[in-house]
Amino acid sequence: MSICTLPEGFFFGAAMSGPQTEGAWQRYGKLESLWDTWSNERIEDFHNRVGSYAGNDFTNRYKEDFELLRSLGLASWRTSIQWTRLLDANGKLNPEGSEYYHRLFASAEAVGLETFVNLYHFDMPTYLFRRGGWESREVIEAYATYARIAFREFGQEIKYWFTFNEPIVEPQQRYTDAVWYPFHHDFAQARTVQYGISIAHSLAVAEFRELQGTGQVRADAKIGLINCFTPPYTKEDPSEADLLAVRMADGIDNRWWLDLVTKGSLPEETIGALSSRGINLPVRAGDEQILAQGTVDWLGFNYYRPERIQAPERDVDEYGNPVFASEYAWPDAVMNESRGWEIYPKGIYDFGMTMARDYPDLEWFVSENGIGIQGEGAFRDASGTIQDDYRIDFVRQHLSWIARAIEEGAKCRGYHYWGVIDCWSWNNAYKNRYGLVEVNLDNGYSRHLKKSAGWFKRVTATHAIE
Ligand code: BG6
Repeated sequence: MSICTLPEGFFFGAAMSGPQTEGAWQRYGKLESLWDTWSNERIEDFHNRVGSYAGNDFTNRYKEDFELLRSLGLASWRTSIQWTRLLDANGKLNPEGSEYYHRLFASAEAVGLETFVNLYHFDMPTYLFRRGGWESREVIEAYATYARIAFREFGQEIKYWFTFNEPIVEPQQRYTDAVWYPFHHDFAQARTVQYGISIAHSLAVAEFRELQGTGQVRADAKIGLINCFTPPYTKEDPSEADLLAVRMADGIDNRWWLDLVTKGSLPEETIGALSSRGINLPVRAGDEQILAQGTVDWLGFNYYRPERIQAPERDVDEYGNPVFASEYAWPDAVMNESRGWEIYPKGIYDFGMTMARDYPDLEWFVSENGIGIQGEGAFRDASGTIQDDYRIDFVRQHLSWIARAIEEGAKCRGYHYWGVIDCWSWNNAYKNRYGLVEVNLDNGYSRHLKKSAGWFKRVTATHAIE
């Protein structure tokens, strides 16, 4: 692909999360999250038995890490506050936790890095999970209170806020595919959780607006939602049933959130189709008004892979769940074998253009994009540097499609690379490495630039995608 450029003002940054970097799982009064509980109960589920405890040692190294991010020309970084660190078990502010985050944000600001704060990154406090998690209104209300406390505490420091990262993932991973604690295969429960998160998001946005109205949140602050949208594709010559399956998967995974954040409602066609198969959401009087408050100022689009869909091969699965769509194995798919995810850079353009067409006022940025590779040590050269040309190629292609989408009218404002510094990937732990910067687990979590770091630095300086 020839050289193309990204517009002036387009920003570059680093995407991270609290639970994957901070470690210090018992410091500053932190409570147990579901990741700590799972690690304590079944450490053998985690790659090389590396549980949630250490992150990537960020808590001990954040000053050095911020310098590193700046040296790559990055203007911003995203993390998440951990609910389990900011609040105590009575739902009140934990002063030690709050001081930690104040120190962190001040340190980022001191080197000129803008901090984007997300409030929830799959890290439910265990005591609240035991009270019903996202299925419980008490927990949903507790989240709204947590959001209010966070907005009040950091409202003058932080400009960019997000209620949730990838709210579709817990319904899928925990409640449908049974790959994350508590390992359920229950489609109806997954939709109840999805609905609960939608209410929680909307309540948090309402809190934000109220506090901004009274000056407790700065006037120029913005609130958003981040999701891993999966552009849907089907066969070249689809049947009606294939197209219906695409609409359903797209409705649950993508349009659910896009409608919520732009219209303050959920997609009627999807909700109707669920209901026709006996899946009814736990709607209460007043919910419509709550959801109506869920519209945001902008959106984060995490892009890793598309979804390929065909008509369901059966109506009901072995657990008694209704099946609305089946996976379509596209014969031309290029795979990242380490992660089992398809690499399809054009998907970022296609989905960007879908948003430009169907949600024309919505501004967004790429809030995560990256590639995790197993066994990167094999690519180390004689000087000790990992020659990750595959990563350069991956980012180059995605940035090129972003540039094209912008040229054609997409309102994409920036790009955060996922990870930048290798971090803990949930139960995959350190199996797949995403970073432009290597973390050496055998040498006290020391940091070393990979080849891609130098390449990315040139892109951030010139905005030209070589
Ligand atoms: C996104 C998440 O789904 O993808 C991150 O927001 C995650 O938390 C990243 O780490 C990469 O996925 P994984 O499972 O390989 O870590």
